[in-house]
Amino acid sequence: MQHRTGAELRELFIRFWQEKGSHHYPSFSLIPDDPSLLFTIAGMVPFKPYYLGIRQPEHPQAVTSQKCVRTNDIENVGRTARHHTFFEMLGNFAWGEYFKKEAIAWAWEFLTEWVGMEPDKFYATIYTDDEEARESWVREAGLPEERILRFGQDNNYWFMGETGPCGPCSELYYDRGASYGCSSPACGPGCDCDRYMEIWNLVFTQFDRQKDGSLTPLPRKNIDTGMGLERLTSIVQGVDTDYETDLFRPLIDHTCRRAGITYGSDAKTDMPVRVIADHIRSVAFMLADGVLPANDGPGYVLRRLLRRAVRYGRLLGFEGPFLCEYLPILIDIMKDPYRELCEQRLTIEQIIGVEEERFQRTLQQGTELFEAETANLARTKTAVFPGEAAFILYDTYGFPMELTLEMAAEQGLTVDQEGFRKAMEEQRERARASSKQKKSSLAGDVYTELESEQGPTRFSGYTTCTDTGQVKALLTADGPVQRVEALDGPVELEVILDVTPFYAERGGEVGDQGELHSGTDTAVMEVTNTVPHGGLIVHKVLLQKGAVSLGDRVQAIVNDGRRCAIRRNHTATHLLHEALGRVLGGHVRQAGSLVTDQFLRFDFTHHEAMTPEQLRGTERLVNQRILANQPLSIRECDREEAREMGAKALFDEKYGSTVRVVSIPDFSTELCGGLHVSATGEIGCFKILREESIGSGTRRILAVTGLNTLKLLQRSYDLMFQVAGILATDEENLPTRAQELLDELHRVKRQAQETALREFTKNVESLFTHKDVDGVTLQTGRFSGLEPDALREIGDRAKAKASPTVVVMADVTEDNCRLVVMADDAAVERGAKAGDLVRAAASLMGGKGGGRANTAQGGGGDVARLDDAIAAIETLLASQVNQG
Ligand code: ALA
Repeated sequence: MQHRTGAELRELFIRFWQEKGSHHYPSFSLIPDDPSLLFTIAGMVPFKPYYLGIRQPEHPQAVTSQKCVRTNDIENVGRTARHHTFFEMLGNFAWGEYFKKEAIAWAWEFLTEWVGMEPDKFYATIYTDDEEARESWVREAGLPEERILRFGQDNNYWFMGETGPCGPCSELYYDRGASYGCSSPACGPGCDCDRYMEIWNLVFTQFDRQKDGSLTPLPRKNIDTGMGLERLTSIVQGVDTDYETDLFRPLIDHTCRRAGITYGSDAKTDMPVRVIADHIRSVAFMLADGVLPANDGPGYVLRRLLRRAVRYGRLLGFEGPFLCEYLPILIDIMKDPYRELCEQRLTIEQIIGVEEERFQRTLQQGTELFEAETANLARTKTAVFPGEAAFILYDTYGFPMELTLEMAAEQGLTVDQEGFRKAMEEQRERARASSKQKKSSLAGDVYTELESEQGPTRFSGYTTCTDTGQVKALLTADGPVQRVEALDGPVELEVILDVTPFYAERGGEVGDQGELHSGTDTAVMEVTNTVPHGGLIVHKVLLQKGAVSLGDRVQAIVNDGRRCAIRRNHTATHLLHEALGRVLGGHVRQAGSLVTDQFLRFDFTHHEAMTPEQLRGTERLVNQRILANQPLSIRECDREEAREMGAKALFDEKYGSTVRVVSIPDFSTELCGGLHVSATGEIGCFKILREESIGSGTRRILAVTGLNTLKLLQRSYDLMFQVAGILATDEENLPTRAQELLDELHRVKRQAQETALREFTKNVESLFTHKDVDGVTLQTGRFSGLEPDALREIGDRAKAKASPTVVVMADVTEDNCRLVVMADDAAVERGAKAGDLVRAAASLMGGKGGGRANTAQGGGGDVARLDDAIAAIETLLASQVNQG
């Protein structure tokens, strides 16, 4: 079987089904449009309305590689090498188009002919009396009867959930050989051991299961199939588990490097390594699809996985935040089909960072509490972890209940879950009874709580830079407070207003800076950054003087100069995006961007470095549009309308049904929530600073606009004039003059070397001291400022003056000594090894060296030890020739 990467197999699958007439959809979001599911659990989920006949399919056949998350078994993830939360499901789908016969024949063709798996290693399972499937396996695939097994509903019937499309299925198993087996006589397809791998599930979706469990026939016969990309890859790559495939390995390797361990050498460390690799995939993809950490729903799963990963990192000895380190690695593995990872990178990093840091802070204390509690239980020989303690861990330390359950299970304990619920209920009661302004009930979830109490912050900054807002929340490191006063120097805090003109970091655009003043001017707050938390806009603030209290009315003033620079860069990013498409071709896609007040950074898909002409052309196109001074048109409309306008939309963005469309007439139309100039002329001037690669098929451009361009030009001109002055020429002749000077320098250097060499070699013997070392003449010479070539030439001449001989040359400068050692053939025959002599001498001088027996070089910085080094050579040479 030909070796293929996971990415190649993904592509091969898609191409195969396209050739069979299927339409390829890029993966749909992990968050389904379906209240009965928390996550997309299978490739068919986004197509549910087609199965149910509620909507007509756009295409009668489809193929996807779908991002999926399954969370029914999180505790087992990492414990076994098979479970995952995040995985990619390769699937082909048909609605009334083809059915069992084709689904079976084509699955077989793909695996045996396209992938090249051995036909006689396959088994198929069918639903009890599914004769049509049996016949197809025999006729279409040529599977012998004895390798077709019948199973009942437990194995061979697929349900999407409690309700929804379902039907009998047929599964293909691949026999990996007896060495993977459990050697039980009953071992066969369906056995729990690792021998028979289920690789492809073909579902013949014919029914819709109702709430009462009854099955209603669907309007037509459909096909839904699913094959785990990770598992297929593991078989094709001949590795034991999915974690060893190239889809996981770089993540695994990073953990091992960081922890100083080897994967596969110790089951105890393997588990955390796998947990981190699996969970970071789920966490990153969930965040890319817009899930935010929360106390329920998908956000809770996200939080739980993130915290579980952090905790397992701790078990490997990781201190401080570490999860973000995996993002570039993951992006590198996955960026091709999943651009959202690149596009949302800033957001993903930020949320992981905040969430991880918050949890890190309490994890240590929580773990100590847990350990104290278990020690107590051991003393009293109790096997039940108290519900009250589990609640404190949850409430004060942010431990998801499942984490406590898992930690308890590791100690052989159960948790009193009833007690936990009671404690939680009592807490709720207390909270209801307490004052309006209560403390957050769960560390780290202040924002979610605040937003649910007060609703989202209203953003007024599209049209203005100043506004008046009322303080709705003040947060310090200890959580929400009523009042903050700057007594001894500035105080860091976060301020949330009901309405603000401050733009919160989003879509690659940095957050605003500026000031907040309380109405009476008693408080002056410097806003250092503005970040989003769900629908809240959070001002990161330094209270410089005075005091601020909840309910205060404050004047919010955005730093307008900085904001203008940001707006210029943002609109220029749109111009650049379109210009690149026109100059390089339609394959150019945005892969990420960063818009700051200093520069803009734009990442895009393109396979090679841009030529100077392409760069000039792009700059020209953008600047022409700037000079045309076109007014921007920005308006809100529904998603469909935006699509009809041909708006460039970032993949699967969560903009809600109303979107904001930013257009530069006759040039570019994009969905965008950011800040822009009102007409392109405001950008002033656009200049690319750098174009570079950031990984396979992705390029990055750094550019400046407005006054930053002026600054750049001024600096470049200053430098140029300075250099021209030094070289006593004008700017035009600068390159020629610089080249002339360099050539001259080389010539002079060469001449100097030659003269020196002539002098030296005239009487080479006088340059060296001579010593007899057991019949070998050791010649030692000291020089200064000679190139290695010259040294070797001198050495050659010295070598000719005696035999057997070893020539040692030291070229000494102030802080470095270069050593060249040469031995003639007769000396080598006597056992002299120049390489070893240099190595020993160089190491005495704090350096390195080596080479062959007849010539070697090296050196070191500890020049003062040169005499010792030469003495060492003499001693070592004596022992070499005596042994030789
Ligand atoms: N929907 C089927 C599964 O998930 C293909 O196994």
